[in-house]
Amino acid sequence: MKEIDWNILGFHYTEPEYIVRAGFHDGVWEEPYATQDKYLHLHVSATCLQYGQEAFEGLKAFRGIDGKIRIFRWRENARRMARSAEGLYMKPVPEELFGKAIRLALEKNIDLVPPYGTGATLYFRPLLIGTTPRLGVGPGQDFEFIVIPSPIGPYYPGKFHCTTFVVNRHVDRAAPFGTGQFKVGGNYAASFRATEPAHAQGMDCLFLDARYHRYIDECSAANFIGIKKLKVESFQYEYLTPRSSAILPSITNDSLMTLAKEMGMKVTRRHIRLEELSEMSEAAACGTACVISPIDKVIDPERGKTYSFGAEPGPVLTELYHALKDIQYGRSEDRHHWCEVIEN
Ligand SMILES: Cc1ncc(COP(=O)(O)O)c(C=O)c1O
Repeated sequence: MKEIDWNILGFHYTEPEYIVRAGFHDGVWEEPYATQDKYLHLHVSATCLQYGQEAFEGLKAFRGIDGKIRIFRWRENARRMARSAEGLYMKPVPEELFGKAIRLALEKNIDLVPPYGTGATLYFRPLLIGTTPRLGVGPGQDFEFIVIPSPIGPYYPGKFHCTTFVVNRHVDRAAPFGTGQFKVGGNYAASFRATEPAHAQGMDCLFLDARYHRYIDECSAANFIGIKKLKVESFQYEYLTPRSSAILPSITNDSLMTLAKEMGMKVTRRHIRLEELSEMSEAAACGTACVISPIDKVIDPERGKTYSFGAEPGPVLTELYHALKDIQYGRSEDRHHWCEVIEN
């Protein structure tokens, strides 16, 4: 395998040595196995290709300050993938099989875990696809579970910085009773018409609820967080995040809510009107990739409005960002047992 220069590793896919696979046929899951073959022999009428019967996940392993490897909250990813599978009439991957596959992918690619201090991590992309050939619309009964590991560079190669978000009322990511709560490919394909033009302008997208276009749903691949001061002159803050049936329950958001409560903040999940941004002192997107991506501005071109939060990340979100990263890198106590520590 060719040497990797960890310091120039970008935030994109790097080919792993091995992937891990396990098929589901005749009602039985195979034992997960590692293979160097990155291609599938797939029927052209497979339900994943014909009807989008596909779900995926994203999680990371970190090399800690003590040299040990920590896999962050993989059981939560396994449970979310099981919910996505059920949402698309697929066979859920049993939690223990999911964990076994992640550990095997790690073990077979152990040299791809970036060293501590580089900011790089080993990302895992678990994928579940329907493989039964079908031309009539309907779900299949055969599935393939695959774990694709890939080392990725730090999300912030320079300093922790802000991104601008734009609102688009002409493209909806997910319907109120659709598949937004599941991590399935169709949701992402549906958002490209909004995200690609935003990315071309160096921005990201903030999606509103599809029914009223009134409330904040989430960002294209991250949940939304807003920070409000409880009283004007106080240092008491409220952590606000949207309640919506159309958004993905983010594991990062769940972790940050726990940490925010421990820091004495009020944590509220409710419908958030777009105009409420003007009452917030800080705002951000959050997810596995970035942990926290602070927002400097939200632009609403249709209404001619811009909500500004300052050019630099605010103090509350910066503290939360470091608190979570400290747990992931073993620099602070993992009080909630979020990390599975792998001795190697
Ligand atoms: C649509 C969407 N929302 C939120 C998230 C953040 O979820 P997590 O924190 O589990 O990565 C992601 C990323 O997985 C996402 O794709």
